[in-house]
Amino acid sequence: MADAGLKDYYDKRSREYERIYDKPERQAELTWLRERIPALFGGRDVLEIACGTGYWTQFIAPAARHVHAFDLNESVLEIAAEKPFPAGRVTFSKGDALTLEGAADGCDAAFAGFWWSHVKRSALDGFVRALAAKLEPGAVVAILDNSYAEGSSTAISRRDAEGNTYQLRTLGNGERHEVLKNFPSALELTEAVRPVAREAHLESLTYYWLLVFTLK
Ligand SMILES: C[S@@+](CC[C@H](N)C(=O)[O-])C[C@H]1O[C@@H](n2cnc3c(N)ncnc32)[C@H](O)[C@@H]1O
Repeated sequence: MADAGLKDYYDKRSREYERIYDKPERQAELTWLRERIPALFGGRDVLEIACGTGYWTQFIAPAARHVHAFDLNESVLEIAAEKPFPAGRVTFSKGDALTLEGAADGCDAAFAGFWWSHVKRSALDGFVRALAAKLEPGAVVAILDNSYAEGSSTAISRRDAEGNTYQLRTLGNGERHEVLKNFPSALELTEAVRPVAREAHLESLTYYWLLVFTLK
């Protein structure tokens, strides 16, 4: 079931969300990712999971055949829809990234930016299997998320009994939210996709990691 607190936090953060992409120390890695990610999806039908304000959609759309992007929050979808995409190349819809209810069928690729870290450890296997069932066999999947970088990442405030970690984040209006944010190891990532992946490759950067795999 969707985490209502997480949905609410990103709803309230929608207009300030993209400031996260302005952090100066992260620019070199972002420049590389903005080329690397679209190159994985040339001519493919891409399911974009929890697309948010469409930051990555705008780079993937010119390379893809079509991007079927979805998110649970209408506020972020409205911002995404304002971006200039190649005509007819992107469809936005409302859907749940945990169950993939409302997500398009028949895609031969998928991308999830900064979603994995918000999934509880106990829910990851269900997410991975639901994703594999949704996509075509042989589909290419790319998962992008944050590495923990001392001095750049928000500090971890709490760890729960199953090992999930949390951060206390402050919105522009001063409101504080506790947000689930996991920082998995390389081994945890490759083990998590092993049941569905034919091959998996992890690119570990200072501020980000990118897991690319092909479905069986
Ligand atoms: C960290 S943001 C990532 C946005 C975008 N993928 C990016 O990389 O810029 C997480 C997104 O997850 C969305 N979200 C939260 N819970 C969700 C759920 N259960 N299903 C789909 N989207 C959800 C939020 O609305 C938010 O847009």
